[in-house]
Amino acid sequence: MIKKTLSFLHFFILSLCLSAQTISITTDHTQLVLKVSSQKRLYQAYLGQRLTDRTDLSLLSMPQAGMGSSMARGLETYPVMGTEDYYEPAFEIRHADGNPTSFLKYQQHSTDGDLTSIRLHDEVYPVEVTLYYKVYPREDIIQQWAEIRHDEKGKVWIGRYASSMLYFEAPDYYLTEFGSEWAKEMQMQTEQLRFGKKVVDSRLGTRANMMAQPFFEVGLGSPAREDEGTVLMGTLGWTGNFRFTFEVDHQNILRVVSGINPDASIYQLERGETFRTADFYFTLSADGTGEGSRRFQRWMLNHQLRRGDDARLTLLNNWENTYFSFDEEKLVALFGEAKDLGVDLFLLDDGWFGNKYPRRNDQAGLGDWEVTHEKLPRGIPYLVSEAEKQGVGFGIWIEPEMVNPKSELAEKHPDWILRLPSRDTYYFRHQLVLDLCNPKVQDYVFGVVDNLMQENPSIRFMKWDCNSPITNIYSPYLKDRQGNLYVDYVRGLYSVLERVREKYPDLYLMMCSGGGGRSDVRGLNYFTEFWCSDNTDPVERLFIQWGYSQFLPAKAMCAHVTDWNRSSSIKFRVDVAFQGKLGFDIGLKGLSDDDRAYCRQAIKEYKRLENVVWAPNLYRLVSPYESQHCVVQRVTDDKAHSLLFAYDIHPRYGERLMNTRLRGLDPDALYRVREVCLMPGRQSRLACHDKSYTGDYLMKVGLKVLSSGQLVSHIIELEKV
Ligand code: GLA
Repeated sequence: MIKKTLSFLHFFILSLCLSAQTISITTDHTQLVLKVSSQKRLYQAYLGQRLTDRTDLSLLSMPQAGMGSSMARGLETYPVMGTEDYYEPAFEIRHADGNPTSFLKYQQHSTDGDLTSIRLHDEVYPVEVTLYYKVYPREDIIQQWAEIRHDEKGKVWIGRYASSMLYFEAPDYYLTEFGSEWAKEMQMQTEQLRFGKKVVDSRLGTRANMMAQPFFEVGLGSPAREDEGTVLMGTLGWTGNFRFTFEVDHQNILRVVSGINPDASIYQLERGETFRTADFYFTLSADGTGEGSRRFQRWMLNHQLRRGDDARLTLLNNWENTYFSFDEEKLVALFGEAKDLGVDLFLLDDGWFGNKYPRRNDQAGLGDWEVTHEKLPRGIPYLVSEAEKQGVGFGIWIEPEMVNPKSELAEKHPDWILRLPSRDTYYFRHQLVLDLCNPKVQDYVFGVVDNLMQENPSIRFMKWDCNSPITNIYSPYLKDRQGNLYVDYVRGLYSVLERVREKYPDLYLMMCSGGGGRSDVRGLNYFTEFWCSDNTDPVERLFIQWGYSQFLPAKAMCAHVTDWNRSSSIKFRVDVAFQGKLGFDIGLKGLSDDDRAYCRQAIKEYKRLENVVWAPNLYRLVSPYESQHCVVQRVTDDKAHSLLFAYDIHPRYGERLMNTRLRGLDPDALYRVREVCLMPGRQSRLACHDKSYTGDYLMKVGLKVLSSGQLVSHIIELEKV
């Protein structure tokens, strides 16, 4: 009894000490421990697998300012430029008196449920930085951001404002990044990080992710692997310029600084105004990227993706079928094709608007969101009602942030356009970006959606495109605060998207940006899905979808069947798109009867199986990066239903084909295996077809689902019996 009381007392006293000195941020499997030093500086003491015994926290050593190595001053949580640190800082400020330094000292912290906030301040200047940590315990995701305020008289600029600064100690570090360009989105590349800095960033403003996507993976001790090893996976929720800096210091400690890219964005912060950084999200998986992806996908569906728990609409798009060349008659015929196919929706793409400067190609009309009377005399309401008569919903393409100089909008409101007053204007796709820093422009952009919805309340879907980066960095509205442009633009965009979300909660919205130039998780808080790439060649899509699936769930990834790569069968093209949010952008008349029948059947099967396709439990079993095949598996949460997608790309002659071992099943259950989505009149040639196996067998021995055929695909359903 006495022993028990003593140990309770010991624990109680320890907890008291800990709460003053130690801040612990935990999810089910991860723990981040911060400590306050005697000089009131805040340090990272631990980031790793969750410690089981809370009393162990007191054993974690406290990094000391100015101690230890002559170079490193300690792992400060939010290091500041200009004082002691020799490495990349998280924060930089220029005070009103011109002083470019700061010391941030701990003031107080509080925890309210899943949210911890820690207030730091400068004891000499009235500057305050509050760090926020929000945990999603079950999904093992930590969200971080900071808020910056000052009360100085005179002008203050912030030159760096990271969302997060994390430290790691491992023998070596391997970064996997997701380089991109048009039609080559999410190309995964891995390299070892050595002394110095590696920066992955974007400075494109609007079409921000065209050249680099805001995701990364860092393998600690070995390159990130699918099913084993410790890996940090991170992303920034910001539909604009981002920057990740990976710095290996003199002591081989890795520093990861994440946030809005501050390049050309020295932000003028008004007295009393709060600057909220973007949100950084990370997970630390001890079981490879597979586990990290399942966490991110689950988190997206449960907490982040707009209408994450809801169904999606299959569709027929007309872009690659007609481009700009269509009229009422052609469109009405396409509604019939959509109905025949069995999709939920017809999506009318670019080319329906503009009168003084009709949108006949990409050189005119952007900004004039009035239907082209000559082309579509009965307007959008007629199209909506004709589609609905056929039992098909109606969706429409817009690009409301942009303007062609050849437009009535550009003539009426030249001051609404981002354009340098003193230099030649640089055009990207013959267009310019509107100044969303300006509240009047925000109203106008909201009006593009609002007017369409007012006129056609039953529009179910909009594809919101954004084809140009910000090419001319000058806002007529911001005047002498041009450093605020990139940040205030994104805030202006969010304020519009918030209004859209609030007024039209049932509207499905696709985020598109000349292919996959926008794909961030904050954008997906407003959009129900995104366009992964204009590249719909199914072989390329296997790689692109493999990349996005590291972080994003299937129901958000629009995947359309098109005419790209006609050497692949319709079945192969459909089977690749089946892994995402299925749609079609193809002239169905050009297809053979069998191909059309296959598409119809695939839509039916997709609807029957959508909850398996969209389950966050993804197992990437065979990588196209490492073989001439690709196999991925989805499993429902209750492990009762699973789908296996198997693709042979271009196998070499005589290649030895291995069994594919499944994952995530119930070892004790019996599963019936059936190949689905077969071409009309075809029987499955898989030996496992229509047989039953235990989960144990499937996971230990596996199935023969690969072949030496070229561009061959199988979709295999497993159901608990
Ligand atoms: C972008 C999109 C395409 C299509 C065109 C229309 O390139 O990625 O899907 O909508 O714009 O101009």
